[in-house]
Amino acid sequence: MAGTLVGLDVGSHSIKAVELARAGGRFRIARAATVPTPPGGLVEGLPGDPKVLGPAVRRAFEQAGIRNRRVNTALSGRAVVVREIRLPQMPDEELVQAVRFEAERYLPAGSKDAAVDFQVLERVQEGQTTRLDVLFVAARREVVDGYVAALREAGVTPEVLEVSSFALMRLFKDEARDGATVLADLGAESTEILVLHNGRLRLARTVPVAGNALTRAVAGLLGLEPTAAAAAKEEKAVAVSNPATLTDPTSARIADAIVPVLGDILTELRRSMDYFYSRWPGEPVRKVLLTGGTARLRNIAALFADELNVPVEVGDTFRVVAGDRLDPALAPVLATAAGLALRGAES
Ligand SMILES: Nc1ncnc2c1ncn2[C@@H]1O[C@H](COP(=O)(O)OP(=O)(O)OP(=O)(O)O)[C@@H](O)[C@H]1O
Ligand SMILES: [Mg+2]
Repeated sequence: MAGTLVGLDVGSHSIKAVELARAGGRFRIARAATVPTPPGGLVEGLPGDPKVLGPAVRRAFEQAGIRNRRVNTALSGRAVVVREIRLPQMPDEELVQAVRFEAERYLPAGSKDAAVDFQVLERVQEGQTTRLDVLFVAARREVVDGYVAALREAGVTPEVLEVSSFALMRLFKDEARDGATVLADLGAESTEILVLHNGRLRLARTVPVAGNALTRAVAGLLGLEPTAAAAAKEEKAVAVSNPATLTDPTSARIADAIVPVLGDILTELRRSMDYFYSRWPGEPVRKVLLTGGTARLRNIAALFADELNVPVEVGDTFRVVAGDRLDPALAPVLATAAGLALRGAES
């Protein structure tokens, strides 16, 4: 068991645990599980009751058969702020204070003692003065404490607590090394959009439109309860621009319901790409990779490629870390958890 790496991704819909083992010079997935997140486990993207979330996290480890309980895990979505800022050059001790001061401005007022981490990306010469491009992440202290309490309840020790977007970047770093790449993690509550350029993060946004919004639209139009609507969506939904092209009548009705929501997600992707194009003109987005459970929606990559006019693929975790006996449908779902585990392979 020594030497395995464990990644834990706690989402609003499901908890994913992945254990990597070294095989030859590479890592492969030795064990993995996904279990549903119980109601109240996460509340509006923030860790909920540790007594509810903790046992579900424990179940994920038991179901996967993972005994290594030292994990790399992350906060995601609304729980964290990720930004790049430019500051004057200054001594390191002052920089720590300056970044903290800036970061706290992005958190709700009165966020005392926030958890802040940062990295200097680049030194930029502006005339006579040197300035620093700094990437920071920040979270409210209560949010971090609430999550750690749930992990403790699960008997899990966080070795590393980072930000889910960094895990995605890590997993796809080879695919995103050259030129501009967009990573879009389409979960249940939210979609995380990252624009990478030559391996560097240029934009990170969380938009509150993803699988749940699709389910609500299906429930509304077909008059179904949420659970039935989610099941209908997962079984029968096809992403198309024109529902009339679908021969199956249920799929066509579902498509009627989801087309506007997919349109909203596409609008957010276009906005993010436009922002990138405005700041880095002449750098085309070479590829969009979709991950998360909603990337399993049939035909979504083809629809998005048509609409965005760039190549779009469903991100394949198993291309980076082989998962021989795992359900191929988990390829986009385990991306964040696998990227988290790989953090341990770096140091
Ligand atoms: N075959 C499928 N077709 C369409 N949607 C699917 C399919 N399978 C799962 N989903 C949807 O994927 C979503 C769950 O994805 P995921 O597990 O990535 O979310 P999460 O990480 O828990 O949520 P979040 O990151 O938003 O907190 C749900 O909305 C679910 O209905
Ligand atoms: Mg998620």
